[in-house]
Amino acid sequence: MARVAVVTGGTRGIGKAICLALREQGRTVVANYGGNVEKAAAFTRETGIPAWQWDVGDHEATLIGCERVANEVGPIEIVVNNAGITRDGVLHKMSWEDWDEVMRINLGGCFNMAKATFPGMRERGWGRIVNIGSLNGQAGQYGQVNYASAKSGIHGFTKALAQEGAKFGVTVNAIAPGYVDTDMVAAVPANVLEKIVAKIPVGRLGHAEDIARGVAFLCSENATFMTGSTMSINGGQHMY
Ligand code: CAA
Repeated sequence: MARVAVVTGGTRGIGKAICLALREQGRTVVANYGGNVEKAAAFTRETGIPAWQWDVGDHEATLIGCERVANEVGPIEIVVNNAGITRDGVLHKMSWEDWDEVMRINLGGCFNMAKATFPGMRERGWGRIVNIGSLNGQAGQYGQVNYASAKSGIHGFTKALAQEGAKFGVTVNAIAPGYVDTDMVAAVPANVLEKIVAKIPVGRLGHAEDIARGVAFLCSENATFMTGSTMSINGGQHMY
């Protein structure tokens, strides 16, 4: 039977490309989404992949959502923590709510999804968790103390959980995308984005598929010796 994969924030942007790549790999895919019902319905119409709504930043809602998927579709063996938001602003203008909301969804979402699915993976002796971090969690970014902290936290979370999963056949890895041509990046002021793109050695924004191919590799059956790692897919913008 095909393994069940849940991709959070899976109905558009990078998440949508990940859903399609995992289906191509033969997985039974469920997309989670937070609130954009119209986009989710359009996604399901276009791809045939079901979209389930819950807020990954809400602990109870995530436990309930994952339990429903497990009961109605099958045990969740692959999780891609892709859901993320930005609330950019320089620190002196950033509100507590802008800080808290980004931490709650971007980093808290990883914890909540892992709490819902990791114990089962551990018991069954097989699992794949891929967390979508960010170049900006590695290098920092002006106007993003909230987002950079949450994404940097994701990289630490990945390395810690990888150690807990290793002897149970559960790998936990992260991908650190650079600037990708999604709605999130389109929201960056044009003059600022122009300067950022000028610093990408490959000379362009990434495409969602560039990230999805990395995720598919990490979720594949043969990727058994790679865990706790961060795969940078950023057009050469940040190397270390
Ligand atoms: N380094 C140094 N100074 C900078 C700077 C930078 N990178 N960016 C802006 N500044 C300076 C400006 O030059 C300006 O200085 P002066 O007042 O002396 O001219 C000052 O900061 C204020 O700039 P803004 O007018 O842009 O200020 P603002 O308050 O309207 O907006 C901002 C600030 C919200 C940070 C805005 O510049 C912005 O949105 N920047 C983009 C942030 C970004 O890259 N976000 C990534 C989103 S995509 C993503 O996160 C995906 C991923 O994982 C990669």
